[in-house]
Amino acid sequence: MNYDNFMRRAISLADAYKYTAKPNPVVGAILLKNKIIISEGAHQKYGAAHAEINAINKAKKLIGKKFESFEELTLICTLEPCNHFGKTGPCSDAIINSGIKKVVIGSKDPNPKVSGAGIQNLIKHGVDVEVGICDELVKKQNKFFFFKHEFNRPYVTVKIASSKDEKSHNKDGSSTWITCKKSRDDVQQVRINHDAILTGGNTLINDNPRMNARVNFIANQPKKILLTNKKNIDFTKKFFKNAEVDILQETNIKKVIDRYKNSEINSILVEAGPKLVNSFLSDGLVDELIIYESPDLLGSNGVNWFEEDNAVENFGFKLESSYKIESDLKKIYKNVKR
Ligand SMILES: NC(=O)c1ccc[n+]([C@@H]2O[C@H](COP(=O)([O-])OP(=O)(O)OC[C@H]3O[C@@H](n4cnc5c(N)ncnc54)[C@H](OP(=O)(O)O)[C@@H]3O)[C@@H](O)[C@H]2O)c1
Repeated sequence: MNYDNFMRRAISLADAYKYTAKPNPVVGAILLKNKIIISEGAHQKYGAAHAEINAINKAKKLIGKKFESFEELTLICTLEPCNHFGKTGPCSDAIINSGIKKVVIGSKDPNPKVSGAGIQNLIKHGVDVEVGICDELVKKQNKFFFFKHEFNRPYVTVKIASSKDEKSHNKDGSSTWITCKKSRDDVQQVRINHDAILTGGNTLINDNPRMNARVNFIANQPKKILLTNKKNIDFTKKFFKNAEVDILQETNIKKVIDRYKNSEINSILVEAGPKLVNSFLSDGLVDELIIYESPDLLGSNGVNWFEEDNAVENFGFKLESSYKIESDLKKIYKNVKR
């Protein structure tokens, strides 16, 4: 039987919860009897029940109505069922205990705690397992999660706002919005897509930014990371309001990123000024660079983003897409050196 369409359906079930499941991967599950969907489930909320368990629990209420025994059912799930005791019990055991005899999996879990172990447990208990259905779609849907396990560090995006003459801010410290309101609204979406937002001690003091994601839907806010060696941090700054903040007295960028390789943070958005951004870029630790470019000039009172011409390309970035946001231009670059 071809399960592609059912797997696509499970992927779309998972997608609905991408802002509340994070930093966990999103997962969808379906129970089928022949070609009829009996129940559906998704991992809806960080720390809450997994997709397979939700689908099994819903189906339990339909025994004797839509089917007689779980042995008749096939479980479709986008990601390999877990085999470890995390916040919930192992899903592979719950599947085995339900009596399900066939499981179709989108993608093997890249997490070393799980990878292959869930599948092995199912096979050991006589469950027929098929793996790799719409594998690429599942990987794309959980891009940061797969990246983290492949490269053993979170995905790093740098976002900057730039004047047409490639300046970051005014030398005299006078505040100015570089980009238009619509671009700044767009940044909220970029923020909510990431698991953490990182900035430096000067930006904290000079700009007093909130750096939360102001979105009009329910979402898990990104964690915040502050790099500073300053003593006497001013905790009344907006950055600290209602936020979980890691304050790191570390200037070695590689060590900063390494700190998160065993955490649940799969992606970090860097929103800082030229010094810190250039440190990230020169250490080769940036995967994606987003530039919001305004048509205005800051002129001689502006601080340059980069020291040399074609710096972005020289750092190994290639323009992947660009489009207008009112009079601004949003440019997305990907690191092609990695
Ligand atoms: N246009 C934009 O998109 C944008 C975005 C953000 C900020 N800005 C502007 O940028 C200005 C500040 O820029 P900035 O780069 O000086 O400040 P920053 O963003 O605060 O970054 C530099 C600070 O980060 C900390 N840091 C830790 N490790 C570092 C490393 N390896 N390399 C560099 N810095 C490291 C240090 O903090 P400590 O000194 O506290 O130890 C350092 O002073 C602000 O005035 C703001 O207006 C512009």
